[in-house]
Amino acid sequence: MDFRVHVQNPDKLSQTAADALLVVLWGDLKKQRVDAPVAGLLADALAAGDLQAKAGRALYLHRPAGVKAKRLVFAVAADGGAKAVRAAVAAALGGLKGLGAKQLAVGLSGGALDAAQAEAVVAAAADATYLYRHTKPSAGPAPALAGMTLLAAKDEAAAARAGVARGQGVAAGVTLARECANRPANHCTPSFLAAEARKLAKAHGFKVQVLDRKDCEKLGMGSFLAVAQGSDEPLKFIVLRHDGGPKTQAPVVLVGKGITFDTGGISIKPSAEMDEMKFDMGGAASVLGTFRALGELKPKLNVIGLIPACENMPSGRAVKPGDVVTSMSGQTIEVLNTDAEGRLILCDALTYAERFKPAAVIDIATLTGACVIALGAHRSGLFSPDDQLAEALLAAGAAGLDAAWRMPLDEEYDEALKSNFADMGNVGGRAGGAITAAMFLKKFTAKYPWAHLDIAGTAWKSGAAKGATGRPVPLLTHYLLSRAG
Ligand code: BES
Ligand code: MN
Ligand code: ZN
Repeated sequence: MDFRVHVQNPDKLSQTAADALLVVLWGDLKKQRVDAPVAGLLADALAAGDLQAKAGRALYLHRPAGVKAKRLVFAVAADGGAKAVRAAVAAALGGLKGLGAKQLAVGLSGGALDAAQAEAVVAAAADATYLYRHTKPSAGPAPALAGMTLLAAKDEAAAARAGVARGQGVAAGVTLARECANRPANHCTPSFLAAEARKLAKAHGFKVQVLDRKDCEKLGMGSFLAVAQGSDEPLKFIVLRHDGGPKTQAPVVLVGKGITFDTGGISIKPSAEMDEMKFDMGGAASVLGTFRALGELKPKLNVIGLIPACENMPSGRAVKPGDVVTSMSGQTIEVLNTDAEGRLILCDALTYAERFKPAAVIDIATLTGACVIALGAHRSGLFSPDDQLAEALLAAGAAGLDAAWRMPLDEEYDEALKSNFADMGNVGGRAGGAITAAMFLKKFTAKYPWAHLDIAGTAWKSGAAKGATGRPVPLLTHYLLSRAG
């Protein structure tokens, strides 16, 4: 979708040329920044009871009198906050979906337009126009909506442009993450992820390196290799670099869990909903997506992306419960449950990250069902012993409308990981499962500030709207942009 910011004074709102004019209202619906023809239609709709002052409500008018646009849509937002604006635009676009409108103009009439609102409008529009089609030809053509003009008064134009640019960068990243994660596991293999990383590198000038099994053996990644050994699909360890900052600047390292399918291995999962384990590379997808956003927004910052990618399969060669493996860090691990494989591939990537002398390392993983129980689908779990890093990531989540919630990492939780046969087991009990998983990862992060995002509940939706969300690309992108200053 092609977004432009058109600067137009709201006093000529009704003269906007577009297939559809969307007016987002909040506050006192009788005192909106609209010109006379639109104000008249609005007053009429309110008086008739056709539009209620309730968040999420929208009203469609076809060929409204005195208005140049072919359609006029009023959408009510709860308030002028970016989150409310995104929800209102999403609700209105949901109703426009089946219609033929190609060019949309959006005006915010509740109050002055800021950058966060502009970004939110772009996010909602990008979301409404995303359609998964790669393996579903019958999904039909892409939605008709092809372009959008954001209306802004002269003194709002600079902020609007900045918000739109940021929104477009984030949206491109979210779309890539969704597209990768939605692909079934027979399409989205470790080799596919590596090819996507190479494509990204070529398009945006990133450096890329893909390590294979032999390379990982030389590095001593015994834990990662143990997970991969049950599958016929070759593993890949992907290294992406955006060298946007000065050479001396320590990089931020993003580590994404890239399990392209998680059967559970010998500790096999029940078959119900196992198809959703194709989304177990959501962390990897978010790293690729964030790099896509970096490619668009080009912040002056050094960022490295690491993706350990493999399948978790049962087979005659698969790792077995009770097997002890030696991680790249030298610490030994008793694999008590082969379904706790995410931490086993991440720990070696976290050790590999040490070589970059990072300013911070953030891993992103669909790590535990326990995190879904704890936080549901709205907030990602954030774990970090570093208060400053945790605060910055929470703030980035709030700014990107991609919220996280901080979880504890008290030493007491460590006891659950004790093993009689290795330096640690790979699982604690059921209690506090998201936390013990994070405690496991923490043992590999002594050399740098570290945070872990458990996105098991947020990376995809189940049910009728089953599909990848692209989260937490907005959070990660906002964090990186905030670091770039
Ligand atoms: N990929 C899963 C986590 C998961 C499960 C995410 C369900 C979303 C929905 C992970 O590899 C896993 O299987 N974790 C186990 C850990 C357990 C064996 C300690 C889990 O959560 O059940
Ligand atoms: Mn698993
Ligand atoms: Zn998994």
